[in-house]
Amino acid sequence: MSLSPDNIKKNWRLKYDKASETLAQMSKIKTLAAAFNVNVDSIIKISGKDLTEKIKEYGLSLTELQKADNKKISTPKDIYRGIFRCFSLGIAEEWIAEDKAVYDWMKQHLGTKKLQMGAQAGIIANTLSLSGIQKVVTHTASLPELQAEQFFKRENLLSFDENGNLKPAYRINRPQDEASIHWIIEFDKDDKAEVDGTEIICPKSNRFIATYDPMLFNLVIDDNFVKYTNENPVNCIILSGYQALDSANNGVALVEKTIPIIKKWKQNSEHPLIHLEIASTQDKEVRKAIVKKIMPICDSCGLNERETIDMLEVLGYEALAEKCNRETTPSNLWQALKILKKETACPRIQLHMFGLYMTAADKDFCLSPQDNLKGMILAATAAASKASIGKLSEPSDILVSVGQDINQIGINALSELAQAVGNQQLLTDGFCKTEDFNLIAVPTIIIDKPKTLVGMGDTISAFSLLGAL
Ligand code: GLC
Repeated sequence: MSLSPDNIKKNWRLKYDKASETLAQMSKIKTLAAAFNVNVDSIIKISGKDLTEKIKEYGLSLTELQKADNKKISTPKDIYRGIFRCFSLGIAEEWIAEDKAVYDWMKQHLGTKKLQMGAQAGIIANTLSLSGIQKVVTHTASLPELQAEQFFKRENLLSFDENGNLKPAYRINRPQDEASIHWIIEFDKDDKAEVDGTEIICPKSNRFIATYDPMLFNLVIDDNFVKYTNENPVNCIILSGYQALDSANNGVALVEKTIPIIKKWKQNSEHPLIHLEIASTQDKEVRKAIVKKIMPICDSCGLNERETIDMLEVLGYEALAEKCNRETTPSNLWQALKILKKETACPRIQLHMFGLYMTAADKDFCLSPQDNLKGMILAATAAASKASIGKLSEPSDILVSVGQDINQIGINALSELAQAVGNQQLLTDGFCKTEDFNLIAVPTIIIDKPKTLVGMGDTISAFSLLGAL
């Protein structure tokens, strides 16, 4: 049966109406664990005007600014190079500073007025603690008071004190630890900067992240977390935090150090679902180690279109990566998803892009296509809520976007995907079988002027998976 565009939208509206039921069911989940990265984010906004002034102050030329070969921060000037790059392309990138002097400079000049929970594990733990999950156990490499303050004051949101006792994270203070602060520098779509007489218009609201974080650079792991997750039943472990590793600083070995930890989790009698959340990873050797060594041993993986392109690049599919980069369309990303699935054999891979999420799951995966679909719809609802109110901080925030229209851009993206896959069932049901796996796809609600984008991917991946359990 082929449906009219109006009916397709209505049909999806009906599916979205179930989001609150899906959320209610999450309270049957006993334990979620999140590792490894947790930090403090200092959020600042930069206008095109301020950026123009800084570029002048640091004497940066347009040619210098457009070079993309060095994505490291050695001096404050590099921060503005990074901001300019992301501003002019409307993209998100995270660059690493290796020198504490840059950290001190950022603390003094960029400031710490607006702080919030940062990093995949931290954001996922905070957000998912609102969902009704009984226990959320979070790995923290450092947990001084400043870090503890970024955890929601919730009794189900736990971490370890200096004696290895599991406690509500907001009540812990490991005073000997040093807080890790990352700077998130956000800019707005359509804002203008000027360099050497050329006007640059920002095509998409986005952010640049400047990070100095020795705990993360050395992937410091708290043994208490590993011990706990080995000795107690855990339904799901969400992993992230490899992205700041540097191959010149032992990065590949640090990635490999987690392999036995993951393998041990898989030997637990009640094997937890292990999900890897990919993040923007600049070092290609590290990226390659993640895609070749970690993805294949995880049960599930989440990434966005940019991260997908990055992975293709290190897997030797440069031409397809370039094509996806030029035309970031659902049909090109569908090709990319198939490659990732084939190369990594990861049982479930979820790719989220503007207006559309697509998940490739093995036919015998423990969560059915219907379950995956439910989770993805809840995720799209939670993501839209987050975009419209800025942050999810109360349980009721998760569903504030319920009732909003599914966006036509999303429906168009889904129809392009259905066309590329050659199966119209995807457009109406949200899932279909392909030769090698089940494909589940969801058109999303789009918020025109999102209040913030940071942590969006983490929220999408976590709700998609946990909402499907
Ligand atoms: C990266 C950054 C962290 C930020 C997160 C958002 O992990 O290091 O500061 O909060 O991305 O997704």
